[in-house]
Amino acid sequence: MTSARTSVTVDIDAKIPNNVDLKSDRRLQRALESWQPKFIRWWEELGPAAFKENPVFLRTAIDVGQKGWANFDHVSMPDYRWGVFLAEPEPDRKIAFGEHKGQDVWQEVPGEYRSDLRRLIVVQGDTEPASVEQQRQLSLTAPSLYDMRNLFQVNVEEGRHLWAMVYLLHRYFGKDGRDEADAMLERHSGDEDNPRILGAFNEETPDWLSFFFFTYFTDRDGKFQLASMRESAFDPLSRTCDFMLKEEAHHMFVGASGIGRVVSRTLELMAKHDTRDVHPYGGINLDVLQKYLNFHYSVSLDLFGAETSTNAANYYSGGLKGRFHEERRDDDHLLKTLYRNVPDMSDASIGSREVTQLAALNETLREDYTVDCQKGVDRWNRSLSEMDTGVEFRLPHIGFNRDVGTFRDHHVSPDGTVLTAAEWEESKDLWLPSDDDKAHVKSLMVGVTEPGKMAGWIAPPTSGINLKPVEFEYVRV
Ligand SMILES: [Fe+2]
Ligand SMILES: [Fe+2]
Repeated sequence: MTSARTSVTVDIDAKIPNNVDLKSDRRLQRALESWQPKFIRWWEELGPAAFKENPVFLRTAIDVGQKGWANFDHVSMPDYRWGVFLAEPEPDRKIAFGEHKGQDVWQEVPGEYRSDLRRLIVVQGDTEPASVEQQRQLSLTAPSLYDMRNLFQVNVEEGRHLWAMVYLLHRYFGKDGRDEADAMLERHSGDEDNPRILGAFNEETPDWLSFFFFTYFTDRDGKFQLASMRESAFDPLSRTCDFMLKEEAHHMFVGASGIGRVVSRTLELMAKHDTRDVHPYGGINLDVLQKYLNFHYSVSLDLFGAETSTNAANYYSGGLKGRFHEERRDDDHLLKTLYRNVPDMSDASIGSREVTQLAALNETLREDYTVDCQKGVDRWNRSLSEMDTGVEFRLPHIGFNRDVGTFRDHHVSPDGTVLTAAEWEESKDLWLPSDDDKAHVKSLMVGVTEPGKMAGWIAPPTSGINLKPVEFEYVRV
């Protein structure tokens, strides 16, 4: 089927489904078709460890328009139609920020920005297969078929996001781009010799509680990176990120709703047994949930980089990467003579210093991210207050457990108190998952594969996928 409903024609039956008219560029098509078996080999080796051939009720993009982009059916993952999809072009789009503001966006890569753009694409692209690798063991212990399906959906879409970045590398960066595309499959999460580029993507996602917090907090970092690249003057990158953001929304939903369901199950067990300690009853205590939140939030904050950054400033001035919602902001979009404060940790106290907004772009994006993170926390807190628990989840202080930027090598408690190393050592198990907490969570991870049944530590979802009931056979086992 070829669809011409939108201005971009989708060739869904091609070896590589795409809406970029791949067949008109034989060289590119051949290059991508020779990368395809390497991708499949990687997926087989480092993709989901179990249920890899079972039919899964998956969403596949077959069009980028309003209706066609989400098509649901049972598919065996090796047959998933990973494709290259760019959002529809915006006619007469102009550059919205930086030194080229007001000029036409670029359809090709300007020579002076070639290596910076390649770097941005490689760093983003590298996170996509990394998360699939981090999550590969989770299918063995899925708390329900519904959850297993959601995991696989996230996994195949991260695979597609890799395709999205690899297309850009092949199409616009010649031999260097092809080498970078190969290297995406050679670096592996946690590999000692050849790890993934960003630290947070080298840790295994060891259990489902971590998976939900990862998709809530770390996929949300992805949302903010993609949203700022959607502003890019390099139009193909902008259109690619625009479409990826649609898929990313589902990943964050998996996290937000997953955590919400764990919270409701905990509250249910608390009420039933009239206790705050639900561990003997197979639940997860609220304080343990707060510790997982602290960990995943703080690790994700590091992904935004140092408070001030020359690279980020150059990317902005060049028009390569903008701010979140750049066009909605009412300022000069140059930021060289506008100022703001960034946190500054010195002499064991937390202060701030004034810098140009241009220098502080990482911090600005991190703040936008924090505002977004708070929304889910507020939602979980509503269920806590309905039950009169007297407990509230909180995002920890921005200096807590940080490894990047001004707080690195300092110890700050979740409420923002500066601590000595000894004080930190003494209390850190109150704030971050302890070995006991992790062991308890691990002990609950038992796969449940009967349709409609849930593991005991998590409540069922309020509704199924694509109007199917919760007890639908989301994965045929
Ligand atoms: Fe992604
Ligand atoms: Fe994602």
